[in-house]
Amino acid sequence: MSRPYRLALPSKGRLQAPAMELARSAGIEVAVSGRALSSHCSQWDIEVLFARTGDIPVWLADGAVDAAVAGRNDVIEHGSPVRELARLGFGQCELRLAVPVDGPIERVEQLVGRRVATSYPRTTAAHLDSAGVSAEITTLGGSVELAPRLSAADAVCDLVSSGDTLRANGLRSIATVLKSEAVLVAAAGQSQRAAGVTAELTTVLTSVVAARDRRYLMLNAPDGSLDRIVELLPGLDSPTVLPLASGGMHAVHAVVSLSEVVGLLEPLRAAGARSLLVLPIDNLIP
Ligand code: PRP
Repeated sequence: MSRPYRLALPSKGRLQAPAMELARSAGIEVAVSGRALSSHCSQWDIEVLFARTGDIPVWLADGAVDAAVAGRNDVIEHGSPVRELARLGFGQCELRLAVPVDGPIERVEQLVGRRVATSYPRTTAAHLDSAGVSAEITTLGGSVELAPRLSAADAVCDLVSSGDTLRANGLRSIATVLKSEAVLVAAAGQSQRAAGVTAELTTVLTSVVAARDRRYLMLNAPDGSLDRIVELLPGLDSPTVLPLASGGMHAVHAVVSLSEVVGLLEPLRAAGARSLLVLPIDNLIP
């Protein structure tokens, strides 16, 4: 590979800030200066590019970019042969068909011969085809929800996250076309060197994602309470149990899910645990 390895991150939109934050947490420090659309990351010796999410699958398919943080919806819409390597735990949304709340359409089958406005014409057409519905698809670059109000469409097919945009524009969902989220993707057919960097990137990014909803729990247990305390801990693996220098006590360490931590503290304390510490984890490689 004569050029540097290239990682594309979204330049704007909802995926931009969390993608940048994930990259930073993984040690990919990029200096964003002014309107520069690329930055060299010296720690990894890679070039980080900032691209529109809809264009990222194009760059990957061209081989201009080696890996990217992208929305699955854009990857599927483009239809290019890229490899999805990991789900990144943010940017969850659904591509949905929606119609005016006060209109006559209630089911997808009623869209036969109707006009559907979308920024995802391929995905929408594939879904309607599979439902045996022949409709006229109008491709728009954005603000798709306006189309029914302007009598430019009978339905829309657009991304829904909170649902606020649908509600604010008098629309209601009638079908989910696709579930999407941010994913790490790589170009197909990489050189051995690029594939090596891709594997390293995948490991470090997924280790950051996996660590986010886990905590490292440390506590001291009197020997008489040790069995009961160990039983209470769900843990990734069996907890680590180490004797304290003073004798009569053991330190117990375990990785527990964030959702379980709060519910564990009081039972552990009641079972005799002392000096409980709950710490964030930077990276977790199972
Ligand atoms: C996206 C999408 C919807 C909206 C849905 O638009 O196209 O319009 O978000 O989000 P909600 O369910 O949380 O309201 P975006 O703001 O990204 O801009 P766009 O109109 O250019 O697509």
